[in-house]
Amino acid sequence: MKVLLVGGGGREHALAWKIMQSPLCDRLYAAPGNPGIAADGGECVDIAVSDTAGLVKFAQANGVEFVVVGPENPLADGLGDAVREAGLLCFGPTKQGARIEADKVYAKTLMQHVSVPTAEARVFHDFESAKTYVLSRDHGVAVKASGLAAGKGVTVCPEPYQAIKPLEEIMLSKVFGQAGEAVLIEEMLTGQEGTVLMLTDGRTLYPLEPLQDHKAVGDGDTGPNTGGMGAYSPVPIINRKTMARIESEILVPIVDAMRRDFGRYEGVLYAGLMFTPAGPKVIEFNCRFGDPECQPLMMRFKSDLLQALLLTAQHKLEEAVVEWDPRPAVCVVMASRGYPGSYEKGFEITGIEEAEALGDVKVFHAGTAMKDGKLVNSGGRVLGVTALGETLAAAQEKAYEAVTKIQWDGAFCRGDIADKAVHAEKK
Ligand code: AMP
Ligand code: GLY
Repeated sequence: MKVLLVGGGGREHALAWKIMQSPLCDRLYAAPGNPGIAADGGECVDIAVSDTAGLVKFAQANGVEFVVVGPENPLADGLGDAVREAGLLCFGPTKQGARIEADKVYAKTLMQHVSVPTAEARVFHDFESAKTYVLSRDHGVAVKASGLAAGKGVTVCPEPYQAIKPLEEIMLSKVFGQAGEAVLIEEMLTGQEGTVLMLTDGRTLYPLEPLQDHKAVGDGDTGPNTGGMGAYSPVPIINRKTMARIESEILVPIVDAMRRDFGRYEGVLYAGLMFTPAGPKVIEFNCRFGDPECQPLMMRFKSDLLQALLLTAQHKLEEAVVEWDPRPAVCVVMASRGYPGSYEKGFEITGIEEAEALGDVKVFHAGTAMKDGKLVNSGGRVLGVTALGETLAAAQEKAYEAVTKIQWDGAFCRGDIADKAVHAEKK
């Protein structure tokens, strides 16, 4: 079968790599794709992820039967609906389903209706009321723009007065435009964070192996938040018992709530969780795979990914069997100097082959481009250097050894990806 994968980041490279290993896959197109996907045998087509009509037209004209959508924006714009209306199979929720990520007020209301554990929150539409509220608080808060803000819409404020600046930016300067028309002010939760993803066809739920992301740019979780500087799987703090609790208290009720609200939620559901002293609580839901979480997840995914995604889209997920490599995987993101602020592009990248020659290493491209026949950096997050190892410590060591082989002017990474779990493993 011919598959069209929508997106062009590290997550999509990991999905493409795995989809192309399936005997069911005759050809994989990626729009817009990236040089890593092309190097692995995918065919990149120059159509933007926002060009819904163009993507559907391409799929129809090229005999594509199955469209897999990577990022959230096209899903929130209704690409899933357009693909299905054209009579093609789609992996990814409808526009209504994508609201679980694209409309945080909606997500919070739904969680409250079915008592899914999450931070207490109030919603505001004007700056003065929001300011009065935060100044009346004596505990930390998290300020969140309700709409999609490319992972930048959340500010955590250990002191309530620190919320004034982000509120001004969102509500007065309107830095996120419409996405900031409604703002949530949440109680600040504390604890370790973890991610649980599941495949669902709206009825059957298939939880995947747990992961942990590293959102802050600097070692020891310091500095501004990024899209994610590294991830690993599995996560020692999320054991079987905790997974069972997450499934029964969070995943099952939210999928049921969505079914009652609008019908079937299908695709992947990402639950960002905080393990508080009172148990796991939801920080956010996303309607797609995480980036970079997808990279170590695909490294450990042993079964036929294309078949699992297809069974989800065909509403036959109960037939799916997913096997995991028991070995842990660690992904270290290499980024461009200046990220998450502004950065320079166009520096030649070398050493990827040497890194992969170490064995059990895969370098996923996130922000790369070809210029005059050379591979160059073209984004903030550039590569996801991902390794398997017999233990988390071994996977971590391998990933960092691979990083030392790769160079470009201005490359940097965090030096402590998976440290928390490796320390726990050694105890
Ligand atoms: P989000 O974009 O919703 O994932 O939020 C980004 C990051 O902000 C999360 O990964 C958490 O580290 C942090 N965060 C979000 N909400 C809260 C909260 N209520 N309490 C503490 N930290 C939070
Ligand atoms: N890495 C966080 C996310 O994909 O939302």
